[in-house]
Amino acid sequence: MTKIISGNELAKKIRSQISQNVQTRIEQGKQTTLAVILVGQDPASHVYVTNKVKACQECGINSILEKYEANITQEQLLKRIQDLNEDKNVHGILVQLPLPKHIDSHAVIEAISPYKDVDGFHIANAGALMTGNPIFKPCTPYACMKMLESINYEIKGAYAVIVGASNIVGKPMALLLLQQGATVTICNSKTKDLAAHTQMADIVIMAVGRPNMLKAEHIKQGAVIIDVGINRLENGKLCGDADFKDLQDKAAFITPVPGGVGPMTITMLLQNTLEAASYLDKINYNT
Ligand code: GUN
Repeated sequence: MTKIISGNELAKKIRSQISQNVQTRIEQGKQTTLAVILVGQDPASHVYVTNKVKACQECGINSILEKYEANITQEQLLKRIQDLNEDKNVHGILVQLPLPKHIDSHAVIEAISPYKDVDGFHIANAGALMTGNPIFKPCTPYACMKMLESINYEIKGAYAVIVGASNIVGKPMALLLLQQGATVTICNSKTKDLAAHTQMADIVIMAVGRPNMLKAEHIKQGAVIIDVGINRLENGKLCGDADFKDLQDKAAFITPVPGGVGPMTITMLLQNTLEAASYLDKINYNT
């Protein structure tokens, strides 16, 4: 029988701890604040940002949501980030991606202070992840690691195959697994014979955005499947990159979509924001 790793349940537990810590800070007269910048009208981005802001509220974290028209200039956006960097009352800064084409996303991400980069996308954090000790881990790979931890999975010595090589998920995921002693392969759209890789894997991480792509015939008996994909089908329903039904009885564990990695990603954003606040408090206190 395949067991489900419920992101909703795990998120509830971790968020309750985060709420307590945020509450303790409030009792000490300290706020915890995340600034979220949303540019343009991308419908998926609006949904994600709404969910992030709502999760902040539920945990007692203040959120400042700044929405800008798609025609905002890069210079204006960079100026706003600079102001937020300097604002001692703001602990985390998140710029929702993708940005409109005329804006250089790299320049925008690099403008965020690495100490407020709760997405973990800044090159200082990405580089530090490579060498072992970032200030912030990217939220989705961090969430996947927490889900593996929740089932006490022995990562050391496991063979992990990641399908998808993005900067946000695939690449940092590989580094986190590697640090824990896994042997890791990252597959991409040019990979020859993808199934030959996934069939050998103890852990498969799916992060490509292709509905129901991973089938029972592509995995070995007893594999753990972590599904990062969130795809909307024509009938309006959400599904992952792994075929949840087809994998029943073949996978040992699987994360559902919805209710899997999604709520955990937001949870790790809240965790990073709390850590940013604790850290920045200390710096502000000393200056
Ligand atoms: N767009 C898709 N995923 C993410 C994310 O985790 N953070 C940000 N800022 N934008 C995204």
